[in-house]
Amino acid sequence: MGQSSSFTTIMVAVLLVMMFGSAYSGNFFNEFDLTWGDHRGKIFNGGNMLSLSLDRVSGSGFKSKKEYLFGRIDMQLKLVAGNSAGTVTTYYLSSQGATHDEIDFEFLGNETGKPYVLHTNVFAQGKGNREQQFYLWFDPTKNFHTYSIVWRPQHIIFLVDNLPIRVFNNAEKLGVPFPKNQPMMIYSSLWNADDWATRGGLVKTDWSKAPFTAYYRGFNAAACTVSSGCDPKFKTSLSDSELQTANELNAYGRRRLRWVQKYFMIYNYCSDLKRFPRGFPPECRRSRV
Ligand SMILES: *[C@@H]1O[C@H](CO)[C@@H](O)[C@H](O)[C@H]1NC(C)=O
Repeated sequence: MGQSSSFTTIMVAVLLVMMFGSAYSGNFFNEFDLTWGDHRGKIFNGGNMLSLSLDRVSGSGFKSKKEYLFGRIDMQLKLVAGNSAGTVTTYYLSSQGATHDEIDFEFLGNETGKPYVLHTNVFAQGKGNREQQFYLWFDPTKNFHTYSIVWRPQHIIFLVDNLPIRVFNNAEKLGVPFPKNQPMMIYSSLWNADDWATRGGLVKTDWSKAPFTAYYRGFNAAACTVSSGCDPKFKTSLSDSELQTANELNAYGRRRLRWVQKYFMIYNYCSDLKRFPRGFPPECRRSRV
């Protein structure tokens, strides 16, 4: 019962915290590479935080070191505050090449006090055109919020603070391609898109407010990676009864999904008659969620 044994106890505790901590929240140094924008992208706080910024000269971006094929991927973002009109923060999964697959979150900035638009899309075999857009029920620039993608062979679920906002079901039976064969990397960027982002391009970036900065933390992937297989915490495929209890999509989740879609969805390709005068794409048939 000397000092050395209590020292050992403390070291074991520290190690456990480190192991648990690192399993829970990935270190940005280990998981991501800053890919463009020079000093505008930064990893700091010992790898627990990342920031991207945008100025007149350039934006910036990063990508994951790993390639994922299915998984649940969570990231906390705090978006550009103040007048963010004209800026776009993207956060997405994508494979490579002309017939690539992609699962997108894009945050379109706005003038101070006006709502960001959260734009989502799914590409399969190089084709997107499956946009849904939302306002958020909070100010995404005040605090960090968690944006998640759950990607399984049977569906893709977009979540915000653990509330499902969108479900894209696998409709291959109806002839709709679904992302399931091409591994994807995680990408993010902050860039200037004032030709279209805010009120369709009407509001331009106010460069006197530059640099614009977005912050990232709390990255967590319970996923299948090309290099090391599937994390046991993630089930690639769920049976109907497992779906009923999966926290992403149980009865509570489905009610929240309907709530978000009713009050916060501002665009849905599946109800854009002008765009599809001869009928909606097959996956738009009312699906059981
Ligand atoms: C910006 O605010 C305007 C006015 O409230 C709104 O119509 C628009 O959807 C908002 N978001 C973007 C990205 O334009």
